Amino acid sequence: MKIVTTIQEAKEQIKEWKDQGLSVGLVPSMGYLHEGHASLMKAAVSQMDKVAVSVFVNPTQFGPNEDYDSYPRDLDHDIAICEEQGVDLIFHPSVEEMYGKNYNTYVTMETLGDELCGKSRPIHFRGVCTVVTKLFNILTPDKAFFGQKDAQQLAIIKRMVKDLNMNLEVVGCPIIREEDGLAKSSRNTYLSPEERQAALILSKTIFMGQKMVEEGERDVKTLLDAMKSNIETEPLARIDYVEVVDGETMQKVDRIEESVLVAMAVYIGNTRLIDNFMYEC
Ligand code: PAF
Repeated sequence: MKIVTTIQEAKEQIKEWKDQGLSVGLVPSMGYLHEGHASLMKAAVSQMDKVAVSVFVNPTQFGPNEDYDSYPRDLDHDIAICEEQGVDLIFHPSVEEMYGKNYNTYVTMETLGDELCGKSRPIHFRGVCTVVTKLFNILTPDKAFFGQKDAQQLAIIKRMVKDLNMNLEVVGCPIIREEDGLAKSSRNTYLSPEERQAALILSKTIFMGQKMVEEGERDVKTLLDAMKSNIETEPLARIDYVEVVDGETMQKVDRIEESVLVAMAVYIGNTRLIDNFMYEC
């Protein structure tokens, strides 16, 4: 496995593979890799000739009071996971390499980023779209693999690729959970033992909501009232949002009639966690 830190080296490696007619998959990441990322790598390794993983904590997707500085980083551990999964290339650039002097260009969405996470993280998706576009331009993957846990991010990236005629396929992969149900996330490491226990309220509420919908509930208010009341039984939990939106446009709906995303963000202490499920009528 090769590890490169410059755009030039990354481009040269990809060109070498493309010249040999090999397909390239990309798993974009901010590092601190866990089984959720490993599942994306597995999917990529099974479908592509060569797989690149980018490890880059992207400053432009963090708001001024968010956790950019404290975001967990452990490159040695990331290298070990990538080796284990049969990854061929790690691209680990510095901030200066990605956003050089006088950097001035960003990719923004019109409305897809307004609801859900976009409400409390107004510049987040601008940073995500910008860095993902840059990674696509640098690494020119044939397919890029993203987790369904960040469902709004996945919908936004799919839209961006379509709208801007980018020449790749975006593959969404299922949420990976701990044995007790908590969705895997690098931010789970922020939780104290007591908060870790309290965080189970997210997955429990997701499973409860999913059961209600599968059993025929179609009224969004009834569903959301039940889900919110359930979260409020946990004293350490503070709701950022619980919403039902159209699975493609991310706009709120009143009734569950087509493909919907039921998504939540909940603070457990100071840690903001997300979870969701998709439902197709
Ligand atoms: O999902 C993430 O880890 C990040 O948002 C991504 C897609 C790697 C962009 O920085």
